Amino acid sequence: MPDWSVKNPYSSILSENFVLNSEGSRKETRHVVFDLGDSGLEYKAGDAIAVIPRCPPELVDEILSMCNFSGDEKVETHLGACSLREALTDRYEVHRVSKKWIGGLGPRLTSDTGTIGIRIVKRQRVSSDDGSLLMDWEGSGVDEDVPEGYAEIGFASNPAEDLWNELTGDAKAMEDYIWSRDYIDVLGDFGHIGFTPQELVDGMDRMKPRLYSIASSPEHEPGTVHLTVATVRYNHHERDRTGLCTGFLAERCEVDDTEIGVFMSPTRSFVLPEDGSIDIIMVGPGTGIAPFRAFLQQREFDGATGRNWLFFGDWTEGGEYYYRKEMEAWKENGLLDRHDLAWSRAGPEKVYVQHLMKQHGEEIWSWLSGGGYFYVCGDKNYMAKDVHSTLIEICAEHGGMSDEEAKEFVETGLMKTEKRYLRDVY
Ligand SMILES: Cc1cc2nc3c(=O)[nH]c(=O)nc-3n(C[C@H](O)[C@H](O)[C@H](O)COP(=O)(O)OP(=O)(O)OC[C@H]3O[C@@H](n4cnc5c(N)ncnc54)[C@H](O)[C@@H]3O)c2cc1C
Ligand SMILES: NC(=O)c1ccc[n+]([C@@H]2O[C@H](COP(=O)([O-])OP(=O)(O)OC[C@H]3O[C@@H](n4cnc5c(N)ncnc54)[C@H](OP(=O)(O)O)[C@@H]3O)[C@@H](O)[C@H]2O)c1
Repeated sequence: MPDWSVKNPYSSILSENFVLNSEGSRKETRHVVFDLGDSGLEYKAGDAIAVIPRCPPELVDEILSMCNFSGDEKVETHLGACSLREALTDRYEVHRVSKKWIGGLGPRLTSDTGTIGIRIVKRQRVSSDDGSLLMDWEGSGVDEDVPEGYAEIGFASNPAEDLWNELTGDAKAMEDYIWSRDYIDVLGDFGHIGFTPQELVDGMDRMKPRLYSIASSPEHEPGTVHLTVATVRYNHHERDRTGLCTGFLAERCEVDDTEIGVFMSPTRSFVLPEDGSIDIIMVGPGTGIAPFRAFLQQREFDGATGRNWLFFGDWTEGGEYYYRKEMEAWKENGLLDRHDLAWSRAGPEKVYVQHLMKQHGEEIWSWLSGGGYFYVCGDKNYMAKDVHSTLIEICAEHGGMSDEEAKEFVETGLMKTEKRYLRDVY
């Protein structure tokens, strides 16, 4: 079987792609099922899969049009030569401008260096009364070459140079600028300043695969990989935008049709205990549920006798209770011994998974001191940090330890030495 990788991904197609949220929910989290076909791809519960997105064609078309390129021009890329259109679609990330690319504009903006002149390929005559377009004119852009009464569009040397100086001289201003802008925004601000097709792509961020925790067990769902994907959507400068991969999956991946490059990203650490009689506690709000659906399917398939405790939560029970039927069935048949649900936007007070952990601290301590494993999956920046400190508090309170001892117990004992506090956070 081929060794599928970033350079040689398997072209999978989807057999399912639907929104898990109920109608009226303001979130869009999808259940996406990849068909592994005859790829020979294998995985275990806990692994992630890498998905290679493609850039939105309308963004690529707009960039080409702003630069007066057809897309057929040849460019060199890190993956070899290809057409400019292919480079912008598959090899670079055009939905967010890169710092390096903006940095690279410098020499082209500085008209007095004498080394690289500014070439403006399109100017327009604009009525001074109402700003309406009177006539198009195309030329070399050399100043004397511009007919009288014609105004530059897209580029004005001083403002663009000023903006470039501001951005490259102030890291915070640069971060703020690139956070909300793609190449269409930036070409609007700086204009087409004499790019060759090669110069246009040089400095753009290379296309990176996105990782997703697999939400299925290979034994329970043979030949397929299930994912739980939160679609990233936002609006900047009056344009709706999406995250690159989640927008691709949500808007441009048709079931049984679109080919999507994938390869496996196996985990060595985020695994079930080999001994099925060991208890496990799983904390996975939001998309953090994904690997725990896989774990539960696997434990059921294995006939594991250890107890399973799941902490899940999201905004509301009505809108974001993902895999409700499966969870309720597992509660019913006893696979899930404990199931605690934290709805953060259901009432006046936020209820988070760590609040429920705290309420059940004594029992969590009892599972842990009996050799149980503790897993966390989902948001790294807030949730996982708070769950971590709550776990330390629980160990201090119920394990009769000082705060320092509890910290040491969790961070050195459980995490490093015994490897039974495991995290899959992003
Ligand atoms: C091991 C691992 C497992 C993962 N598992 C899952 C999973 O099971 N499910 C899941 O949904 N995700 C998962 N992720 C996250 C996933 O890999 C992607 O990062 C995520 O889907 C976003 O990808 P994207 O290409 O759509 O967004 P990108 O185009 O990469 O954009 C995301 C970026 O947009 C930024 N952003 C967010 N809001 C705004 C805004 N308003 N304005 C500007 N920028 C903004 C974010 O900071 C982020 O850096 C996992 C990540 C890792 C590392
Ligand atoms: N920008 C976007 O549009 C977007 C979309 C999807 C996902 N993401 C990112 O992707 C990651 C996963 O998102 P997700 O959909 O899985 O859900 P999520 O954003 O992690 O939210 C899941 C649940 O966790 C709660 N939560 C928020 N802060 C918490 C904390 N400190 N401790 C415990 N729980 C907390 C949320 O409550 P509240 O929200 O009510 O506080 C919600 O109920 C996050 O990093 C998220 O920022 C971003």
